Amino acid sequence: MPRRHELDLRDIWMFSACSNSQLKTIRRAIEEVVVPKGRVLCEEGSIGREFFFIVEGKAAVTRNGRRTATLGPGSYFGELALLDRKPRSATVTSDTEMTLLVLEQRRFNGLLDEMPSLSHKFLVAMAQRLRDADAKAVN
Ligand code: CMP
Repeated sequence: MPRRHELDLRDIWMFSACSNSQLKTIRRAIEEVVVPKGRVLCEEGSIGREFFFIVEGKAAVTRNGRRTATLGPGSYFGELALLDRKPRSATVTSDTEMTLLVLEQRRFNGLLDEMPSLSHKFLVAMAQRLRDADAKAVN
């Protein structure tokens, strides 16, 4: 179903520090897609080709068949295999219908290379995810 209002990228935390011309570049690079519930978006052990940002809906992260996280709006996944070019670390499956912003590998890496404010925001978000995972491992 088409979205009633065009998504304003400035409302998304990851892009909020970007200039107008950077937002234009990002808009050209991303694809907005709607996927049904039950779609496997990343498969553990396989080659990664896309990065996903969640606009709406929820996804389950599983490793060896066990759920390790649930991701919702404002969260993202699929970045690890694009950054280190190793196999996908987990399987990510849509728990509901989802609206996603999808960035293909070359575009994802290109935007991070071109836009320090985006890279920095992303590093902070990854640091938070590592802290969360550490806290979960201890508790
Ligand atoms: P990637 O390894 O490319 O593909 C699977 C993705 O699942 C991974 O990138 C992360 O984005 C995400 N992921 C893996 N483990 C976790 C976790 N513990 N919490 C949140 N997201 C995760």
